[in-house]
Amino acid sequence: MELNTLRDLYIDELKDLWSAEKQLVKALPKMAKAANDPELSKAFTTHLRQTERQVQRLEQIFEEIGESPRGKKCVGMEGLIEEGSELIKEKPDAEVLDAGLISKAQHVEHYEIAGYGTVRTYAQLLGYDRQAQLLQETLDEEGEADKLLTQLAEGSINLEAASAEGEEEEEAETTRGSRRSSKASEREVSRRTTVEGGRGGARGGSSRRGGRAKETESSAR
Ligand SMILES: [Fe+2]
Repeated sequence: MELNTLRDLYIDELKDLWSAEKQLVKALPKMAKAANDPELSKAFTTHLRQTERQVQRLEQIFEEIGESPRGKKCVGMEGLIEEGSELIKEKPDAEVLDAGLISKAQHVEHYEIAGYGTVRTYAQLLGYDRQAQLLQETLDEEGEADKLLTQLAEGSINLEAASAEGEEEEEAETTRGSRRSSKASEREVSRRTTVEGGRGGARGGSSRRGGRAKETESSAR
């Protein structure tokens, strides 16, 4: 498809979003199944229902403009979903897996928020007011989903991931003296990269953990 006008670009971006949502409809049940925290699992299932409606909204728009949604694969979403699959395959501890799933899901939400914000603005510029309204509805839902994930992360899941890790280390130290297993060291590396410890210093919080928390402050927002 040639991209000569803003309308061409609008259709191209809509196709990309349709492909992204279709891929997500397949991925979300796997994320819901992998999640250990019941609230997190429920959040993924709720978002699956929303995503199905978002696909329908896009199809309604395609019908209105007389175009097909097919013909493009969203490789951005493919990559984000692949990262989620890799995390699940790593089989991390339950609490760490949940924190990681939130991180992957928030990457997805932010990607979609960028896409829908763009097409909503294009629709306004092109004078497609009804379509702009439909796209705004989806944009709002993606924003809400992102906020809910932040609440789940900051409410308990990140802290559980941080404290579960600490308990295991203490156990290892009591049973094996001061020798640290290589697995524990590996997990420590994964904690540094996946867990937001910032406000988590409070739980079980040694100053050592508090110090590390600063390094990872920016994740899972
Ligand atoms: Fe979506």
